[in-house]
Amino acid sequence: MRMYDIILKKRNGGELDESEINELVRGVTDKSIPDYQITAFLMAVFFRGMTARETAELTLAMARSGDMMDLSGINGVTVDKHSTGGVGDKTTLIIAPIAAALGGKAAKLSGRGLGHTGGTIDKLESIPGFKTEIEPEEFIKQVNEIGLCVAGQSENLAPADKRLYALRDVTATVDCIPLIAASVMSKKIAAGSQNIVLDVKCGSGAFMKNPEAARELAKAMVDIGKSAGRNVTALITNMDAPLGNAVGNALEVKEAVSVLCGQVKNDLYELCVILAAHMAEYISGKAYDECVSDVKKVIENGSAFEKLCKMITAQGGDASALENTEKLPKAQIIHEIRAEKSGYIGAMNAEEIGMAAMILGAGRAKADDKIDCGAGIILRKKTGDYISENDVIAELYTNKSDPLKEAEQRFMNALHITEAPPEKLPLVYDIIK
Ligand code: URA
Repeated sequence: MRMYDIILKKRNGGELDESEINELVRGVTDKSIPDYQITAFLMAVFFRGMTARETAELTLAMARSGDMMDLSGINGVTVDKHSTGGVGDKTTLIIAPIAAALGGKAAKLSGRGLGHTGGTIDKLESIPGFKTEIEPEEFIKQVNEIGLCVAGQSENLAPADKRLYALRDVTATVDCIPLIAASVMSKKIAAGSQNIVLDVKCGSGAFMKNPEAARELAKAMVDIGKSAGRNVTALITNMDAPLGNAVGNALEVKEAVSVLCGQVKNDLYELCVILAAHMAEYISGKAYDECVSDVKKVIENGSAFEKLCKMITAQGGDASALENTEKLPKAQIIHEIRAEKSGYIGAMNAEEIGMAAMILGAGRAKADDKIDCGAGIILRKKTGDYISENDVIAELYTNKSDPLKEAEQRFMNALHITEAPPEKLPLVYDIIK
């Protein structure tokens, strides 16, 4: 079978069969297919799409292209959660400990941030000593002992996805529903959990800019899970503004702790309760409303926070930094941004705010860039808030003064100030099971 024929078939709108898909993924993984043919194929998929069967077969072939985690040694209900990427999204730091406190086994492999989106591994590494490279036996042992482990993805987890994603990133083929669905689900299936809750972001800070596209992506991922024998719940959630008030690694850890301890009850808290309750449905089999009150209980009684501390200690980190956050990395420069005029914040472009945080040092423009764990942004006002001239809207945190001007400009450009209050958008648009 020639790669030329596979490209031609897809270019002409044909449906690939299983052997063609397996051949394609084999050639992507062993590098026998050159970049130019893979990118031509990706562009053909971008315009022609894929059927549900093709997408599921592509996903399974990508999952099997590398290590498949064997979680059969874990005693209990395995749960995983994945977000399609957003700004200020620190939900894993809150939800995984909640799932463990409810008796679930949260076995989670996470990634690093790129561009305007952050990554859980970077956030956790801002805790002194915390290690994310864990051998599979140690991973299983920790999940059995304390109910959770958040580790970095091994180099060999879905390697076909790594090559495809890198090529999509430079050929304008990232925002393609079958390719995103296959990319996300190949890693989830290879990671091994039986029950998966997906947070499909929708809005200015997400790949999917409107609820219809996000719904289509969510449905594609739920269908893939079904064909792989996994239980999947997908929530379509708002990413028109950053989630919570902190953007940037150590700043987000601090905010996650305050939500996990029940001290802050903002949009981040609300979303975490909802996501965790959907995980709890798999763990306990109880009705959703009961799950919501169970989730709130483990936040209020401190048992979820205790689980996070246990995980930090088990992975070599200094858990005392969660209570004494002075021990977390801190930026030397804190620059206030003040309102130039009065009005409502009608909209915030979350992607632009993520880019402003990246410029300050909190993120990476390229995969091998170094990040500054103390850098980021604290939002003092969010969409819907009224601001008077000279009010502090945000604080920029950084250790280098050069990018301050550009970051401030980018932040200001992300704001849309209106005379009337904006319509309140829902936090969750839809749930697909
Ligand atoms: N996250 C992924 O892992 N893959 C995509 O294609 C998009 C978001």
